[in-house]
Amino acid sequence: ATAYTWAGRFSEPMSELVKRYTSSVDFDKRMWRQDIRGSLAHARMLAKQSIIAAGDLADIERGMAQIVAEIEAGEFVWSLDLEDVHLNIEKRLTTLVGDAGKRLHTGRSRNDQVATDIRLWLRDAIDEILGLLREFRGNLLDLAEREAETPMPGFTHLQVAQPVTFGHHLLAYVEMSERDAGRFADCRRRLNRLPLGAAALAGTTYPIDREFVAAQLGFDGVCENSLDAVSDRDFAIEFCAAASLLMTHISRFSEELVLWMNPRVGFVRIADRFCTGSSIMPQKKNPDVPELARGKTGRVNGSLISLLTLMKGQPLAYNKDNQEDKEPLFDAADTVRDTLAIFAAMIAGISARPENMRAALQQGFATATDLADYLTKKGLPFRDAHEAVGLAVRRAEELGVDLPQLSLAELQTFSPLISEDVFAVLTVEGSLAARDHIGGTAPAQVRAAIARARARS
Ligand code: ARG
Repeated sequence: ATAYTWAGRFSEPMSELVKRYTSSVDFDKRMWRQDIRGSLAHARMLAKQSIIAAGDLADIERGMAQIVAEIEAGEFVWSLDLEDVHLNIEKRLTTLVGDAGKRLHTGRSRNDQVATDIRLWLRDAIDEILGLLREFRGNLLDLAEREAETPMPGFTHLQVAQPVTFGHHLLAYVEMSERDAGRFADCRRRLNRLPLGAAALAGTTYPIDREFVAAQLGFDGVCENSLDAVSDRDFAIEFCAAASLLMTHISRFSEELVLWMNPRVGFVRIADRFCTGSSIMPQKKNPDVPELARGKTGRVNGSLISLLTLMKGQPLAYNKDNQEDKEPLFDAADTVRDTLAIFAAMIAGISARPENMRAALQQGFATATDLADYLTKKGLPFRDAHEAVGLAVRRAEELGVDLPQLSLAELQTFSPLISEDVFAVLTVEGSLAARDHIGGTAPAQVRAAIARARARS
């Protein structure tokens, strides 16, 4: 009577096409550790509550230990006939230990089982991502520290705007990365509740101890409502939303790296081990890694949209639709992990080219705002100062020079308030040092910001 899985109710085996269509073992087998961990906690609870005998628990533990060994050795045979990771492991357990294996599923459903497995899996993934984010941030801070005083043009509209230091620019990404870490930690906090005990959807008739299982598995508590416990995938969506934002930040950084590496710009070098060549053009050194990260951002965004769309039409409680949650989730987690690991390493291989940054700074009237501020401090209303400097810039452009190259006499034609002390204001270093407040680009502020960021991480 047990020739196929649902033999009790069914009069013919499942069609091969349906079997392939409904099976998830190819992708959910990667949750095998979490599945076994959850099963062992459940079995311990069943024994503690005298729902199964102590001997059954011993058999289950022995069988599971062997299954772990078989999977680790690559000897475990995963079968499509057994649909998913849960049934594959349960079936093997029964083959190994007999009736105790058949008792494991008492008071449990694959619905609360799979919800538990995914939460455990994602919790591990988040912990790894938080570690990688810390490393990524640490390397960004090291680079920012080395470049705390290196002037580069800050841009708006991709046009030279005002001088900043390269270190200050990098610290913007430190801020984004801290917010990313906060979002993943927040997602972890909310997902860390136990679904087991919900069984199929309504709870179970056995005298279970859910708090005991929760404590065994490191959950902070249990899911309060059995219907919600089996059907909620908010945590997967939250994870992908955090992942999409993180990738958005990586993608913006990538866009800048591509620009900075362009020979016409030449702001940075990236170590050769992170670059690729061309199969035809011998001169090429291409920023493939940042470009690919920019591309993979679309893929992670796709995972988020997949999951949102997956959930939007589902009535309570469990529906098989939910099996489709895993591939996008796994893919998003894998992509974020790989991207962070490679970026952390690559940042350590970035070096600035200060001479090119300075050359670019001398071609966009980067200290024009400083001149306007200078006049304002001498009493001219800011709007009038803005206009006077606009005229000065126009004149400098006609002459093909930068503002500091205009003579004092020339400058004074735009405002009699200008005197010899203007030239200190018009230098890049003067401009940087003057922005001397929290969040500003003065090198001393950049160093202080780095110290605060290090203390936070
Ligand atoms: N493989 C299934 C999933 O990923 C496990 C739960 C199946 N439950 C069910 N009633 N069909 O969602």
